[in-house]
Amino acid sequence: MHKGEFLAFYSYFAPLRAGLTFTTSSLNMSSTPSAKVAIVTGAARGIGLAVALKFHTEGYHVIILDNDKETLQERETQFSGTQGYSFVFCDVANPVQVQSSFQKILEQFPAIYALVNNAGIAIFKPAEQVTFEDWNAVMSTNLNGTFLCTQAALPGLLQAKGSIVNIASISGVRASTLRMAYGTSKAAIMHLTKQQAVEYGNKGVRANAVAPGPVETEMAKLVHSADIRTSYGDAIPLARYGSTTEIADAVYFLCSPAAAYINGQILAVDGGFDAAGVGLPSLRS
Ligand SMILES: NC(=O)c1ccc[n+]([C@@H]2O[C@H](COP(=O)([O-])OP(=O)(O)OC[C@H]3O[C@@H](n4cnc5c(N)ncnc54)[C@H](O)[C@@H]3O)[C@@H](O)[C@H]2O)c1
Repeated sequence: MHKGEFLAFYSYFAPLRAGLTFTTSSLNMSSTPSAKVAIVTGAARGIGLAVALKFHTEGYHVIILDNDKETLQERETQFSGTQGYSFVFCDVANPVQVQSSFQKILEQFPAIYALVNNAGIAIFKPAEQVTFEDWNAVMSTNLNGTFLCTQAALPGLLQAKGSIVNIASISGVRASTLRMAYGTSKAAIMHLTKQQAVEYGNKGVRANAVAPGPVETEMAKLVHSADIRTSYGDAIPLARYGSTTEIADAVYFLCSPAAAYINGQILAVDGGFDAAGVGLPSLRS
């Protein structure tokens, strides 16, 4: 299998955030024979990458979609000798790119068994410092991206009677400081998940959400200060961060036949953080 056979597949016209115009050729995209297809957004690194690896391990052909060109190309190089991956450059917040990218995906892969809406950004700031630009940026990627990708993937999901998993956050379950935009976007994703579950459920497509607690990724490095880390250690009954593979296992479970009757649920994968509620650390010791 030579490099590129399993495709690097890019939006033709997508201007990168860096301001470049990216016009790579569309390489030949072929599927792993008889493999089910999963699309994972924001999968070039972090939780999304772990989800992509999990689906691949379970025999899926995985489409890794991301708007970080450099990291996406790193993944393409890393997996160049491995069957069963495609790479799509796309900004989930850009409706034109989403439409074009998913149209090309569906031309090649008409049946989509799993869509994992994982792409997300976090801007943590005191409430009074959150600008409208911050708010829009977070909503555009986290909420609009989830809506747009699901709409665009729907024909493929209906054909396969597939499954949607949206990555929310425990920040959408429990309010906290610094998360005016992020927490609100994640709470909205949880309700969007229920809408999707109800509206697509009778067509055979399930929708659920995973709400991770803190997970050690580039995002966490960016927004979790030393204080936040200590506080999480105190507040989480399991007293540690989750791993990307622990989140990936939950996502895969929700897409698998083992979860065939689970629809419209929000699964907190958080070491008990949500369950602890008002439980003070001092009361646990
Ligand atoms: N890390 C945590 O502690 C944590 C906790 C709860 C929820 N989450 C959620 O998990 C998801 C993954 O987070 P992570 O920690 O792996 O973050 P990360 O920053 O390491 O990875 C996010 C990936 O999404 C991609 N991405 C961002 N914006 C995009 C866009 N507009 N279009 C396409 N791709 C885009 C990035 O390039 C990156 O590859 C996010 O939705 C995040 O909100 C993370």
